[in-house]
Amino acid sequence: MSTPTIFDKQEDVRDAVDRLYAGSRSADEFMNSIALLLHERMLKYNWVGFYMLEHGAEPPVLVLGHFQGAMTPHTRIHLNQGICGAAASSGKTVVVDDVAKDSRYLACSLETKSEIVVPIFVRGHVVGELDIDSHFAAAFGKDDRDLVEYCAQLVGQRLDSEPVTTK
Ligand code: SME
Repeated sequence: MSTPTIFDKQEDVRDAVDRLYAGSRSADEFMNSIALLLHERMLKYNWVGFYMLEHGAEPPVLVLGHFQGAMTPHTRIHLNQGICGAAASSGKTVVVDDVAKDSRYLACSLETKSEIVVPIFVRGHVVGELDIDSHFAAAFGKDDRDLVEYCAQLVGQRLDSEPVTTK
């Protein structure tokens, strides 16, 4: 019997993401599965969730979607608010090693020390983002960024393959 390890290898988690992508019947199901997988398998990912831009909202607003972790008071975030707003409005991944030192940060849990937010694109437009908080400072290195960006890219692909809805 092989020795169990408490840390999953990044490539194993990536393989699991690929399997979820192939096996999910909708973008919604895929996002739910990604939140579950990353929360369960990545030990420092203590809150994992999606914020999606509300269709047609003016001004634009990010609305909390599937998530794993404690309930957050931030269920709707405008683009000029928080790390989430910064990532969505710039279209760039934002990594914050110490949230206490970032004036943009909107507190979700007192335990959160670091955060990564990765935008999700469909046909070149930001449609939402994948947000992850950690109870550990500087939890998100290059490998984490690559993994989370990979997940966000696949979510964008999955959304693009679905019929357009106007809900
Ligand atoms: N910290 C985020 C808000 C969302 S909670 O982390 C779940 C922000 O600063 O935008």
